[in-house]
Amino acid sequence: MEPLLNVEKLSKFYRNIKACDRVSFNLYPAQVLGIVGESGSGKSTLLNAIGGNIPIEGGNITYTTSSGEVLTLPKLSETRRRLLMRNEWGFVQQNPRDGLRMNVTAGANIGERLMNIGVKNYGKIREEATYWLNQVEIDINRIDDLPKMFSGGMQQRLQLARILVTKPRLILMDEPTGGLDVSVQARLLDLIRSLVRTLSLSVILVTHDLGVIRLLAHRLLVMKNGQIVESGLTDQVLDDPQHSYTQKLVSSTLIP
Ligand SMILES: Nc1ncnc2c1ncn2[C@@H]1O[C@H](COP(=O)(O)OP(=O)(O)O)[C@@H](O)[C@H]1O
Ligand SMILES: [Mg+2]
Repeated sequence: MEPLLNVEKLSKFYRNIKACDRVSFNLYPAQVLGIVGESGSGKSTLLNAIGGNIPIEGGNITYTTSSGEVLTLPKLSETRRRLLMRNEWGFVQQNPRDGLRMNVTAGANIGERLMNIGVKNYGKIREEATYWLNQVEIDINRIDDLPKMFSGGMQQRLQLARILVTKPRLILMDEPTGGLDVSVQARLLDLIRSLVRTLSLSVILVTHDLGVIRLLAHRLLVMKNGQIVESGLTDQVLDDPQHSYTQKLVSSTLIP
């Protein structure tokens, strides 16, 4: 099988800090790839570099579109990149406020992404918004409420609905359950897990929480000081870590 995404020796420096240092990996269709590591290890930088939010110093990222076209992401025009983000990718922000428009209704938050890809029919947009609210377990009677009326967990589920409505193939998530209470986290994780499976989504999931990785990720990259120090199948890496850093992570001496 062809990889959906190929990351090759990706480097990103902040002055003398190697935030990402020659990071390479492949992501395959319908696969959830977890990225784990202590705070400052370069997880968010890697995700933002892949998402095109920050320029990179070196290396390459290629993505195979639904029509089979291989795109070299660092060379993509801003217009084409925006189109890709609208049509095939989604980015789940840790803070839902960064991924939602707080001053428009829940329904409009979902509808806006559809309008961005050219859907104009109001009835169709309303119908899709209702469907996706249902899918993320938000009462459809809340469709005309503003996101600021929602709890943190609901806002995060609304952010998911807003992304899923355009049927993305690849979703990037940075600590999606980070700011939530433990019980709310568990419910959101169950939801993400079932959506990922039913929709055959490919996901890159950044978290410092090994429980989240265990639940969702098929494969795992372990990062330290901007480098991948270990990678493999999640269960294999977590049950039999080879690198001393991963061993420390697993025995929770680095991550609270
Ligand atoms: N905008 C920035 N300016 C300067 N240094 C940064 C910036 N963003 C991240 N860094 C540095 O890059 C390294 C990796 O950070 P980050 O990717 O945020 O790690 P993580 O997400 O794993 O906590 C850290 O040393 C951090 O201080
Ligand atoms: Mg981070």
